[in-house]
Amino acid sequence: MTMNNPSAVITIDGPSASGKSSVAFLVAKRLGLAYMNSGCLYRYMAHLWQAQDFRYQPGQVLDAGCFDFRLDFVLADRLRILHGDQDVSSILEDDALSNLASRIAAYPEVRSFLLGLQHSYAVQPGLVTDGRDMGLVVFPSADMKIFLTATLEERANRRAAQLSGRSVSQAVVAEQIRLRDKRDMERSAAPLKPADDAIVIDTTQMQRSAVVDQICAYYRKKCFPT
Ligand code: C5P
Repeated sequence: MTMNNPSAVITIDGPSASGKSSVAFLVAKRLGLAYMNSGCLYRYMAHLWQAQDFRYQPGQVLDAGCFDFRLDFVLADRLRILHGDQDVSSILEDDALSNLASRIAAYPEVRSFLLGLQHSYAVQPGLVTDGRDMGLVVFPSADMKIFLTATLEERANRRAAQLSGRSVSQAVVAEQIRLRDKRDMERSAAPLKPADDAIVIDTTQMQRSAVVDQICAYYRKKCFPT
């Protein structure tokens, strides 16, 4: 929070299935702030990419006309993600899309294309946002930066539980997560890692509500010290 930018920004980064999106959604609701899930922007971009069978050449400047979109993140009982008045939440859950999102997210042109859109969500009274590089690249002056981790096994268990209606084994889920983490950590454009000033929370042994409580307590202490 500065005189020029009075809205607070809390960034929550971490690897796949670390629980950052559900935690960020609950923190935003509890603190009465807006929410933006940057992974959904990458996923929606991948959706448009796929729909247009977009052909990319390294170094190519992306045509704004091909990727002109804005998603609204509506904080109701559950998160609703709207494109205009269409609820696109289920489109974004597709596994194939998350893989394409992770591949196109390695292109620097895609990352810089999404930068302005991501910044536009920082409105009064503030924003909670999650992703991979929100604290390090997108909002380097954020008021509070969190980095959530958990063991691969625990993250695979959580993701497998979310997918319980589909017949996917824990081992397959773990391998998918491992590959996405590897790609996200090894890419040269904004690789996944905590910012130096991030608070790292290992959630392996924690309930989600305890993680939310801890982040809200840190925030109140940091931004509203008594
Ligand atoms: O968070 P989610 O799994 O929905 O993100 C999909 C993909 O988008 C990730 O695997 C990652 O490669 C990419 N991503 C990113 N930077 C962000 C958010 C997501 O590179 N800030």
